[in-house]
Amino acid sequence: MRLDKYLCELNTGSRSQVRELIRKGLVSVNGLVVRQADHKIEEEKDCVAVRGKELAYRKFVYYMLNKPQGVVSATQDNTAGTVTELLAAEGRKDLFPVGRLDKDTEGLLLLTNDGELAHRLLSPKKHVDKTYQVTIAHPLSKQDILQLEQGVDIGENRLTLPARVEILSENTIYLTIQEGKYHQVKRMLQAVNNQVAALKRIRFGGIVLDERLAPGDYRPLTLQEENCLQESSAQGNKIQ
Ligand code: URA
Repeated sequence: MRLDKYLCELNTGSRSQVRELIRKGLVSVNGLVVRQADHKIEEEKDCVAVRGKELAYRKFVYYMLNKPQGVVSATQDNTAGTVTELLAAEGRKDLFPVGRLDKDTEGLLLLTNDGELAHRLLSPKKHVDKTYQVTIAHPLSKQDILQLEQGVDIGENRLTLPARVEILSENTIYLTIQEGKYHQVKRMLQAVNNQVAALKRIRFGGIVLDERLAPGDYRPLTLQEENCLQESSAQGNKIQ
């Protein structure tokens, strides 16, 4: 991996900040100052230090992607582009999405190579909250809101778990759910005789979509966000 990219992944700074550090001779590899941002390092072997302080190699990486419509939440697909292809510049073959968004859904999708964390985040037992901005065909009645919040029949063995509805405008709501069943939001709105016109995920556990990311853009999680994700995966964060 390139030295500048490696430093970015370890949250040492933005790409331009780490290039500046390298240019100033503040970065060493195996004890020798390296001034080339494209210097290739072997992450598992080389010892990289910034201002003399050694950086710990990180086995796991975490990214947030603003998934655009039209790509599938998979690592491979024969018919359409995939979310992992959007991160091709990272040069990693081990990334996968944490769960799925429908092809026509946009918004926050996490990608990682940390299988255990993904498993915990997706475990039905953890009830990790997900918030969607939903454009709906018709305004919701008070009764619809109550039903969505208490649980609706989407054809599973039991009603959906308690959810939260926030009204943004006549045709736009935030819907926070604790589960991740197939087409869940679309099926919940159908259950109250409505329809989803557009869907965007804006929050997953404690992680909020960075609005500076245009659809198709991504960035590594900050250390604070990573900690937050670990917390969400340990205890979930049930709707109050
Ligand atoms: N619910 C849906 O219906 N679709 C998604 O992509 C996510 C949640």
